[in-house]
Amino acid sequence: MPKTRSKFVCQNCGYTAAKGFGRCPNCGQFNTMVEEVVEVAKAGAGAARRPSAAMRSVPQRLSDVSGEVGDRLPVPVEEFNRVLGGGIVQGSIILLGGEPGVGKSTLLTQISAILAQTIGRVLYVSGEESAWQIKMRADRLSIQSDELYLLTETNLTTILEHVQELKPTILIVDSIQTTYTDEHESSPGSVTQVRECGSRLQHLAKSSGISVFLVGHVTKEGNIAGPKVLEHIVDTVLYLEGDPFQAFRLLRSVKNRFGATNEVGVFEMTSDGMTEVLNPSEAFLAERVVNAPGSAIAVTMEGTRPLLVEMQALTSPTSFGNPRRTPNGVDMNRLLLVSAVLSKRVGLKLHEQDVFVNVIGGLKVTEPASDLAMAVAMASSYMDKPIPADLAIVGEVGLSGELRAVGQLSARLKEAAKLGFKRVLVPKSRRKLEDIPAGLKVIEARSLADALAVAVKGDAS
Ligand code: TYD
Ligand code: MG
Repeated sequence: MPKTRSKFVCQNCGYTAAKGFGRCPNCGQFNTMVEEVVEVAKAGAGAARRPSAAMRSVPQRLSDVSGEVGDRLPVPVEEFNRVLGGGIVQGSIILLGGEPGVGKSTLLTQISAILAQTIGRVLYVSGEESAWQIKMRADRLSIQSDELYLLTETNLTTILEHVQELKPTILIVDSIQTTYTDEHESSPGSVTQVRECGSRLQHLAKSSGISVFLVGHVTKEGNIAGPKVLEHIVDTVLYLEGDPFQAFRLLRSVKNRFGATNEVGVFEMTSDGMTEVLNPSEAFLAERVVNAPGSAIAVTMEGTRPLLVEMQALTSPTSFGNPRRTPNGVDMNRLLLVSAVLSKRVGLKLHEQDVFVNVIGGLKVTEPASDLAMAVAMASSYMDKPIPADLAIVGEVGLSGELRAVGQLSARLKEAAKLGFKRVLVPKSRRKLEDIPAGLKVIEARSLADALAVAVKGDAS
């Protein structure tokens, strides 16, 4: 019987301690420390693991290192390819995180079928669903391919044996939280198991050239072992986001050793699975009601891609107590900041109003460059005056009510022109604006008050 001892591991941040705490001393989350049983290493085991002199790694000159990235396997799904930075790098390991039910298995089943037809053998390992459940989904998605193999298994050693035998080009492990190795006694999904399985799969990817996708669940609070503890092990981290009540799903790269981060691919969940949305701005504006007070169009950047989104605001008199601020798709702190600036610098009496802000399409807009559109939408609702339908808005709002310049303006202007907008309201800049698309009028404003005069009161338009 091997000797064991217990340790306590935080399921949120991976902090390890000899005793448990109600609140993790590292990340401050409550009830996240879980007991795990570990085998005590035999005396001398560490010495045995140390590499012998002959095997030791050798420093080499930087100029001698070949700097080529492994071959990229292009995925014939434009939105997926874009997020990966132009294809799957051979021998790389990619983590796909997301809340349960958002569509990770659906997306990967579809992608595996396409890859099996175009690139080579794919092994889809599922520890969550039985083979017939996957088959039912595949039938629903009208998927059939001779090179797509299914395996329902959770034991990592068995999975690796099948990989040796089948030699797939792509391996998909759905999910990392259900996979376990016998060498650790802790239960599947614990930090120890997730980390150990993750690093063994990383070793497999690096040594064999197989590209590996790992699926990892996160809860709303993000406090389950998985994605967070794996992020430093893997090459690429993708998150699938989306409001369960909305059809749009955003695939976002938050880390990519082989490409730009924050790239976004847009999909729509339909009854036939995930379909690509190749022109997302158009899709996000599809249901727009023009001439409705409280609706403004922002041009936000997601990675290198400009997106037009509708921001809606509603102000209504507070019936009792403190006025409420309810953001949906924007950050609470930015909503508070913009409300405070509108009250103090423009004189809107928002202290006696509840304010609701909503980004249409289930998109989360984090960029300060969309502050101005939010402010204008709020003022428009407060004054009950609509914003002209052909006006798009870009700009960051400063604490003194001044407008601050934003990056990548020419890409934003181009996208607005492409979607038929005639005018764009931007912060006044010292530099002369270049590359203004033909037919587009750029209106510059120095302050929030100036911007409201143009957008809501209709001056100088
Ligand atoms: P799933 O891929 O199982 O989510 P995850 O792996 O992230 O937990 O998808 C879950 C939801 O997607 C489920 O509620 C049903 C829905 N769905 C569709 O709307 N259309 C489809 O074609 C499929 C296969 C699923
Ligand atoms: Mg799933």
